Amino acid sequence: MSTRTQTPPDAEPTQRTPLVVRTRSELRDAQLRWALTGPLEHADPDAGPGQRAVVMTMGALHDGHLELVRRARAEAGPSGQVLVTIFVNPLQFGAGEDLATYPRDLDGDVAKLAGVGADVVFAPTLDVVYPDGDPVVRVSAGHIGEVLEGESRPGHLDGVLTVVLKLMHLVRPDVALFGEKDAQQLLAVRRMVRDLEVPVEVVGVATVREPDGLALSSRNAYLSADERERALALSRALRAGAAAADRGAAGVINAAQQVLDGADGVVVDYLALVDPVTVQTVADDFSGRALLLVAARVGTTRLIDNQAIEVSPEVQR
Ligand code: PAF
Repeated sequence: MSTRTQTPPDAEPTQRTPLVVRTRSELRDAQLRWALTGPLEHADPDAGPGQRAVVMTMGALHDGHLELVRRARAEAGPSGQVLVTIFVNPLQFGAGEDLATYPRDLDGDVAKLAGVGADVVFAPTLDVVYPDGDPVVRVSAGHIGEVLEGESRPGHLDGVLTVVLKLMHLVRPDVALFGEKDAQQLLAVRRMVRDLEVPVEVVGVATVREPDGLALSSRNAYLSADERERALALSRALRAGAAAADRGAAGVINAAQQVLDGADGVVVDYLALVDPVTVQTVADDFSGRALLLVAARVGTTRLIDNQAIEVSPEVQR
């Protein structure tokens, strides 16, 4: 099945309603058509052929995803092609996680994408992505997949990388954009692309937040009003950590921990200050750029957030 756009072909890239494709052959047709005519339809003689940019999602789109798509449009250029994939990947959900209840609303997602610069939505079914059932050969995130998120969600990052690599092969993008909110996922994807020589440029996009600091996430939809209020402790803790950047690594962790200790109804899974490349916890005498990562359960909802911090050794006062 494919849904045709009503938007005239010469509409500005940012005005277009995306074409929805569900199968591999529909995706190939959309790529082929773009290769033959896309750059000409939207011809800007000085713009060059443009790039193919992809934003991979599991749907339940929010403003954070839409920001990724806007950035993808900018990366692709006016005559480039922007693809959004929507696929809830069972491989990255553990037993007892929310695979069955994960919000799915393809029509609503496509409506949100109108006007932000997406050309094509690739929304495959399970058998399109995994035609032979569960893949026998998978990507391993190595040690990156065993710490922090990996400790709480064994196999999660392996499942993410396996589907990301498959989608990269299917879509063949020049650029792939990922949100910095899922920091460990972004690090793992960067590392996979480097280690396996995947010919894709990976671009990280800053976390989008509500005015009160809550990081946008599809799982925020699970929060009651009271839980949403409690969930603000995560971003408050990160801000407290950042404000203690000149008190050394231990000072940063202590400041963030204090906020979490005082937060009711927030069950912390981990709080860690890590090297942004290796994801190893930094030593007490560390100085330089680090990532402060937090994961916590608020009610039954597990939330993650993070903040980059330029840590300097404690100044003796
Ligand atoms: O970040 C997500 O939504 C998913 O982990 C991704 C990258 C689409 C892979 O399923």
